[in-house]
Amino acid sequence: MSFDDKATCWDTDPKKLERAEVVSAAIREQVLLTPATRALEYGCGTGLLGFALRPAVGELVLADSSEGMLEVVEQKITDGDFDQVRTLHLDLCADPAPNECFDLICSLMTLHHVPDYQGLLRSFYQLLNPGGHLCIADLDAEDGSFHGADFTGQRGFDRQEFKHILTSLGFDHIDITTVFEVERGTAEVPRRYPVFLMVCRRP
Ligand SMILES: C[S@@+](CC[C@H](N)C(=O)[O-])C[C@H]1O[C@@H](n2cnc3c(N)ncnc32)[C@H](O)[C@@H]1O
Repeated sequence: MSFDDKATCWDTDPKKLERAEVVSAAIREQVLLTPATRALEYGCGTGLLGFALRPAVGELVLADSSEGMLEVVEQKITDGDFDQVRTLHLDLCADPAPNECFDLICSLMTLHHVPDYQGLLRSFYQLLNPGGHLCIADLDAEDGSFHGADFTGQRGFDRQEFKHILTSLGFDHIDITTVFEVERGTAEVPRRYPVFLMVCRRP
């Protein structure tokens, strides 16, 4: 099932809502956000993280490669009458980067879907203003059982390796903590997958 197909029922899972709220609270604890903060949520899905951060930031851009997800976001923008929130259809692995910069780029559970995630991190660096922050919440390294054998993305991320990549791209003040746990599997055989939040800065 594609993300387009999943879009209309995405928000019916209370765990996804809780996850976004928890990550938003953790970002707000670690990064100073003000009404002047220009924020981008990349791989926003239905915008759960972005909308949770919205009261703390100024302009907010919600970007995704899925038209279906962005249609849900557009409806939320219309229903909430938000004037500083807009959508952007964007796949930074295929499209040129937009001609604008941000003070905050955040992303939740998206990076592991991107084959060239290092290229994506490089694009994030270019899209940040000096002093801006990148906040990525995603899976810790796992055995491939999260998505199953056919999945072509990343099997989560090793924290030390991730930190090393970010350092080599030029980011500093890198901090990685556990923020959430996704529960999968069955009642008999439950599986828990930790989710980290990485916060770093473009000098
Ligand atoms: C697991 S969902 C997470 C959605 C949302 N961040 C959340 O936590 O509820 C991954 C999202 O990343 C988007 N995505 C996957 N690859 C992408 C890419 N290369 N560029 C932009 N968005 C992408 C998908 O369309 C989907 O909305």
